[in-house]
Amino acid sequence: MRLTPVLSANWGSDRPWTLDGYGDYAGARKALAMDPDAVIQTVKDSGLRGRGGAGFPTGNKWGFIPQGDGKPHYLVVNADESEPGTCKDIPIMLANPHVLIEGVVIASYAIRANHAFIYVRGEVLHVVRRLQAAVQEAYAAGILGGNVLGSGYALDVVVHAGAGAYICGEETALLDSLEGYRGQPRLRPPFPAVAGLYASPTVINNVESIASVPAILDKGVEWFRTFGTEKSPGFTLYSLSGHVTRPGQYEAPLGVTLRELLDVAGGVREGHQLKFWTPGGSSTPILTAEHLDVPLDYEAIGEAGSMLGTKALQIFDETTCVVRAVLRWTEFYAHESCGKCTPCREGTYWMVQILQRLEAGSGDAQDIDTLLDACDNILGRSFCALGDGATSPITSSVQYFKDEYVAHWEQGGCPFDPTAATLFATATQGAR
Ligand SMILES: Cc1cc2nc3c(=O)[nH]c(=O)nc-3n(C[C@H](O)[C@H](O)[C@H](O)COP(=O)(O)O)c2cc1C
Ligand code: SF4
Repeated sequence: MRLTPVLSANWGSDRPWTLDGYGDYAGARKALAMDPDAVIQTVKDSGLRGRGGAGFPTGNKWGFIPQGDGKPHYLVVNADESEPGTCKDIPIMLANPHVLIEGVVIASYAIRANHAFIYVRGEVLHVVRRLQAAVQEAYAAGILGGNVLGSGYALDVVVHAGAGAYICGEETALLDSLEGYRGQPRLRPPFPAVAGLYASPTVINNVESIASVPAILDKGVEWFRTFGTEKSPGFTLYSLSGHVTRPGQYEAPLGVTLRELLDVAGGVREGHQLKFWTPGGSSTPILTAEHLDVPLDYEAIGEAGSMLGTKALQIFDETTCVVRAVLRWTEFYAHESCGKCTPCREGTYWMVQILQRLEAGSGDAQDIDTLLDACDNILGRSFCALGDGATSPITSSVQYFKDEYVAHWEQGGCPFDPTAATLFATATQGAR
């Protein structure tokens, strides 16, 4: 398999985060010489799909912004990156902030916005500082401000630090947070394209989505479509973490397989085997070794029963207790539930109680039924996708590893606990 560094091409260069280390904004120069609608059409033709999780076509989203409505339009970049396992936007902004700023210029121009906001999670202060420095550099070079690259187009960019809540990555909660309110999802419709930030038409895109745009404008739609598949074109950053020999960011076409990526990343850590993995963070149902050859694109991963999500490939080997991993994830969702709707607020709390009991070995078969019943009452019945995501690890782990849940109560404790009397033989063969 061939890695295809585009967003990450200059990460190893000398000070790639400076304007000198970046380049001359060739994509933005080309876009500014075009009609804004032609820029939107180019992004539509490229087939670029949002990299924030749902895979919605980026050009179509831009096309929803009403024109000639007399209202201000806004671009908001979602740089909240909090999905467990996801760690691609932060490296992009740290190593290559100008590719994001260039994408912001192109997207704002296309949707006829004169103000853009980059909403960064507050904990990553070093990233906030680096972005602010790059924005200042861009203003000083005439890339931002009243006359962008001498085109007469005006654009102001604000870098806003959030306060570190997973829910503020949900696009409408993000808008409330940006407006100074407590971050909770908004009722839709109206959708942000009609009434978003300050009740005006707003596009919200993920960092990687926006950062992918300059190369499309510079090198063209045909070039972009040479990567990936017909329905999932282009290149993307896969984040490999966990029990892998060389964890990190691997930029490759959509449609490669985990087996191919693991080959490049040195495989599962030495002496161990793959047990389960997430294709796109903890909100996407887990897969197993039988899915190693499923193409990592939106369609194939969907057919395999999961979602490509953020392409956060968390790798777990046979030494991992799946019940414990699912408990940890569920504790995260219970902690991050914003409390607005009952199924998620109450459901995640009770699912933690049940999983704690199961993990400690004092559960029973009824607990599994209750867990699945709770999932059934959350999935599709919650106000936002956080609730849906909280059910994914539970239902998928019961689907693939029910025996391991059973082993916990049969043995009266976690079979993976080294102090337990017996080890779960099938799952830990040769691991200890
Ligand atoms: C609980 C929750 C957290 C989310 N966190 C993020 C995030 O950190 N970054 C992100 O880009 N999208 C996040 N999303 C998805 C956004 O709501 C939205 O779909 C995305 O920003 C759209 O950008 P895209 O079309 O470029 O993918 C989250 C969604 C939910 C439900
Ligand atoms: S699903 Fe959870 S996070 Fe989303 S609105 Fe309901 S309580 Fe809040």
